[in-house]
Amino acid sequence: RTRVLTGITTSGTPHLGNYAGAIRPALEASRDPSVESFYFLADYHALIKCQEPARVQRSTLEIAASWLAAGLDPSKVWFYRQSDIPEIPELTWLLTCVAGKGILNRAHAYKAAVDRNREAGEDDDAGVSAGLFMYPVLMAADILIFNADKVPVGRDQIQHIEMARDFGQRFNHLYGEHFTLPEVTIAENVATLPGLDGRKMSKSYDNVIPLFAPREQLKKLIYSIVTDSRALGEPKDADASNVFQLYQAFSTPEQAASMRAAFEAGIGWGEAKQALFERIDAEISPMREKYEALIAKPAEIEAILRDGAARLRATYATPLLATLREAVGLRDLS
Ligand code: TYM
Repeated sequence: RTRVLTGITTSGTPHLGNYAGAIRPALEASRDPSVESFYFLADYHALIKCQEPARVQRSTLEIAASWLAAGLDPSKVWFYRQSDIPEIPELTWLLTCVAGKGILNRAHAYKAAVDRNREAGEDDDAGVSAGLFMYPVLMAADILIFNADKVPVGRDQIQHIEMARDFGQRFNHLYGEHFTLPEVTIAENVATLPGLDGRKMSKSYDNVIPLFAPREQLKKLIYSIVTDSRALGEPKDADASNVFQLYQAFSTPEQAASMRAAFEAGIGWGEAKQALFERIDAEISPMREKYEALIAKPAEIEAILRDGAARLRATYATPLLATLREAVGLRDLS
């Protein structure tokens, strides 16, 4: 079966970008019976940018409840927490020893931190943890440990998947064909979902629309999306508009085409935002109730996650690490 794998970092409340870029395409892929799916909560990744334990825990619960509310069936899909699989950090070390440092120097997140430091006249690596630098190796371990064929993610993650291929290839070259080289898949109508200010919707920019914001808050946030000042009746450029990009991510191609025509015909911003609110609310509100019920039962979610990780370790992770330890010349633990 084709293996599809993706994860979300547990450092905040899940937002529409996580849903449209990762959760929705991943769950669509897993409806195909020829697909074996692996969806997980990347809590080791969260520690790189979030040193608030309560926040990591809360986020883990919220993201788990979001996947379940969006329709994930834990009896059909591998659903787990990264830190429940100790073989992942173990593999991270094996990959660290073959990963090129020069490649990591080029990782976007690390480079962005260096650029910020240079602009501020600081040392290149001021305030940069080794964890941030190693982020792509941990992510490669997430992907390679289950031999994922396809990784549905937003555009911001493409470089990380390319690095996972590189590290996997290098390991295979040195120690034999152990890893499948993963391919990235990008939801075409989503690409990068813009946030309220037009930049990429991101926890770090504080411009997100929470996936399960209550209806009234959702409406308020959508009405606060920044637009240009073109008045009612003036033609508007759909391709340059955040409102249109969001609309497109939550509608059929036909609905998007007629909204595009309305933009050309000069639809007012208020009306366009109302239409956007209705599209998003129509898709999200059936899940919102399930989410509220799930989030009130953390013990049930905990049991689902533990069970998923225990079965997954026994089925794949533990046997694979035994093989890999032997392949690189370490002692067999069994
Ligand atoms: P994270 O937690 O930043 O985001 C989770 C997923 O949501 C997507 N995404 C978006 N998609 C479209 N538009 C946006 N504005 C937007 N914002 C976020 C991200 O592309 C991602 O798919 N490193 C990863 C988590 C991770 C992972 C993995 C993913 C860890 N290991 C292995 C796949 C495979 C991250 O921080 O995503």
